[in-house]
Parts: sequence; structure tokens; C-alpha cells
Amino acid sequence: MQPVNIGLLGLGTVGAGVVDLLSRNRSEITRRAGRDIRVTRAAVRNPDSPRDCDTTGIDIGTDCHAIVNDPDIDVVLELIGGEHEARDLVMAAIASGKHVVTANKHLIALHGNEIFAAADAAGVVVSFEAAVAGGIPIIKAIRESLAANHIEWVAGIINGTGNFILSQMMFEGVSFEEALADAQRRGFAEADPTFDVEGIDAAHKLAIIGSIAFGIPLSFDRIYTQGIRGIASDDIEYAAELGYRIKHLGIARRQETGVELRVHPTLVSEKALLASVEGEKNAIMVYGDAVGPTVYYGSGAGAGPTASSVVADLIDTVRMMSVDPKGRVPHLAFQPDQITHEPI
Ligand code: HSE
Repeated sequence: MQPVNIGLLGLGTVGAGVVDLLSRNRSEITRRAGRDIRVTRAAVRNPDSPRDCDTTGIDIGTDCHAIVNDPDIDVVLELIGGEHEARDLVMAAIASGKHVVTANKHLIALHGNEIFAAADAAGVVVSFEAAVAGGIPIIKAIRESLAANHIEWVAGIINGTGNFILSQMMFEGVSFEEALADAQRRGFAEADPTFDVEGIDAAHKLAIIGSIAFGIPLSFDRIYTQGIRGIASDDIEYAAELGYRIKHLGIARRQETGVELRVHPTLVSEKALLASVEGEKNAIMVYGDAVGPTVYYGSGAGAGPTASSVVADLIDTVRMMSVDPKGRVPHLAFQPDQITHEPI
């Protein structure tokens, strides 16, 4: 079977994580997908910059459009981030009949309606599991695993930087500015940390969650958005004295007249599950009428966790395009002809 060729736009932290993961787990991934998945081309700003992965076999250049228009590329993996350039490239990839995988929450939150309509018209798929909560499989959980439910509400910690800052202020006694600088050093703050501390990053993610949970269009502009910049150490101390933690939450809730979408600092009882989520971790609770409350916890950022979701989307895409024409996930995790071992 011919390998599937991936064209990578952006080879930073997450891109390197993807290349590394595809190589490290190659045999397992090939058995799951049914075909070998290879990154054959990448476009970057500076091809001479050092990379955190082995780039042997990858043709690295600077021209994203050359990749999007390359007939040998089967799937475009968009990891450049940001809004306008990413939108133009993804729309161009769709127009040239390519499936797309992206980790770009900003792109999906603001341009997803247009992108998905174009993808439907072109008969291609745009996948974006990594756009919300990094390595936590929350998109597939809500869209696929909870598909039988009438979702009542979703509430969660969906910005790791904000949660890290609040945790550091609470337990390490550091100032807001010191905690933010630490988050930037550790690499999970956005290039523009305003997005983290003003709640914009969380609102991007909540727009996506709300759309999937409630079947509404992506509605970023209609989200009530408040960040954590105004939170002082005194606020955190007083809340603790009263038995509460201050957590920055994204909340999507079904109401009689529509869907309420909001992100803001929230007083959470210290006995509640979300109160115990510390550091840069993310956690999301989803309440479905059949299943009741469910919770999803893990790393919302970083090379490994984000690559985990990106590569899962690549595997799904390959299954859909080449192995299972109806786009079904196989009943068992591996393709039927790849189940080679008897149980021990
Ligand atoms: N800046 C984001 C966060 C990265 O802190 O959650 C992952 O989306």
C-alpha cells in the first residue's frame, strides 16, 4: 500500500512532536491506520533553524502554497497558528481537494463555519482534535462517544497558562507577573500571552466545544469573555479562607432560549473536582442526559500531548480516505487485516 504523504505547515514545537511521534510509534501507527504515514514536505520561516526532531527525509522549504498545491501531498497539516495566513492556506488546501488536520483553535473558532462549509462542498475532512485541550480527546468524546446524549452543560479549565498562574499564586505565593513569566519560560503560554490572560484563548476553545456539544454555529463573538488579569493574591487568599478556589472556567450551558457561552474567573468550592486541577493541567466536565456527569483530564499543551491528538486525527483521516470508504472508525482499534496476534 502506498504511504500517505503529509505536508506540514510549521515545524515548531508541535510539528517536531508530530514528526517524532510518527517515527517513534511508526509500526503501531501504521497498523492502526492501515498505511504508512510520512511527513514528506514542510514549510517553515527559517529552514536553517535547529529542530527538535530528526528531519531526515523531509523536504524543508519556505513556501506553504507549494505544499498546499503539491499533487503528491495527500493531507495538509496546518501548525503555523494564527488567523489570516492559516485561513488562506487551509481554504487553498480544501480547494485543491486535500484533507486537513489542524491544531489551530484561533482559526477554527473564527473561520470554522466557512472552512467546514468549503470542506463539505469539496468532499474533504478538516480535523481539529488538538485545537481544544491539547492531548485530552474532548472533541471526539463529545462528538462521537456522547453522541447519543442531550448535552446539558460543559464546564472546564481550558487554558493551562491561566490555571498555572492561579495555582502558582495560590501555592507558591508568587505574583501574577512572575507566574506568567514562568508559564512563558515553560512554553505553554501563547506567543501573545494576552490571549491567555484575557480569556481569549479559552473563548476560542469554548466556541468549538459549544458548537459540537449543542449543534450551533461557531459563535466566538457572542461569548462573554473575562480573563484573570484582575485577580490579586488577596482575592485568592480570601477565597481560600471561605473554602473556595478561584478557577478560570469556560462554561457552555443549554438554556430555554438558547445556549449560554461564557469564560471568566469563578469561585469553585474546594471540595469540587475542578478545584483540585492544578498547574497547567486542563479538565473538562460534560453532563449528558443519559450518561450523567463525565470528566476529562490531562495536559492541554506541549509537544507530546498535542502531537498525540494531531497524529490521532491523521490516523482517522487515513482510515477514512483509504481503508474504510464509509469513513467508519474500525470496530476494533486496528484494521481487521492488521490484527496479527492471538491473545496471550
Ligand atoms: N496557551 C494555551 C494554554 C496552549 O495555556 O492552554 C494550549 O492551547
